[in-house]
Amino acid sequence: MSAEISQLTGQCGAEVTGLDLSRLSDAGFRDLHDALNRHGVVVLRNQSIDPQAHIDLAERFGDIVVNRFFTPVTDWPMIAEVRTKPDQQRVIGGTWHTDHSYDKAPAKISILVARDLPPHGGDTLFASMTAAARALSPGLRATLEGLDAWHSDQTFSQSTLVDKAEDSAFRGGNPHPVLIRHPETGAQALYVNGDFTLRFDGWTEAESQPLLDYLYRFATQPVFTCRVRWTPGSVVIWDNRLVQHYATADYAGHSRLMHRITVEGEPLGR
Ligand code: SIN
Repeated sequence: MSAEISQLTGQCGAEVTGLDLSRLSDAGFRDLHDALNRHGVVVLRNQSIDPQAHIDLAERFGDIVVNRFFTPVTDWPMIAEVRTKPDQQRVIGGTWHTDHSYDKAPAKISILVARDLPPHGGDTLFASMTAAARALSPGLRATLEGLDAWHSDQTFSQSTLVDKAEDSAFRGGNPHPVLIRHPETGAQALYVNGDFTLRFDGWTEAESQPLLDYLYRFATQPVFTCRVRWTPGSVVIWDNRLVQHYATADYAGHSRLMHRITVEGEPLGR
């Protein structure tokens, strides 16, 4: 059986049917990877993957990068727990962001597996950074093409949602081009995000913030987004160079547990 791909919205995301992630053939993996490169995020329903199958799937994309701020899943140190307890008001990932943009070789993809879902809500939104890049005016694009921006993990130092915020976990910042080229397809994408981008290289934070704020608003317009409604057995894979994501905190009083693996990428160029 081959993969069938149906786009979620005009600019972002696709649902992939016809693949069993626990025994994916080479051809199936190629279809999945192609869909990911084309749509930025892929959603697979009714999957049954245990933690080992989750790891095996991730390793087909590359080396796993362990998130140093997240609680690991018991007995599975390669898998990060994304847990919300019923009394929590805020959730991990509850603002638009790009996983690991603070790393020198920022994350390639993340694979999120639903383990325990609230009765309603908890959707994850994605925004296409290639669509945002395409929609820039020629003038702003020309300005951004000459800029790098610094990204840092320092926001985790104030976070009460992660439990690994000890000083040794922080590594300072890394610069990346503001408009990157996707390492595999060459597609141009906007690469700044509200959680981890500090400032443009050579600019102060005060000078950078107004333009960064404009770019965050611009890049997350509804027309560039899709929204994933989680169901038991859902697995979502996204490419952090192509999309940003946002976890919706609208299920107070309920718990939610997801397992996330992130795969290492490479230094980003323009
Ligand atoms: C994340 O930001 O990686 C988590 C997204 C989610 O829990 O929906």
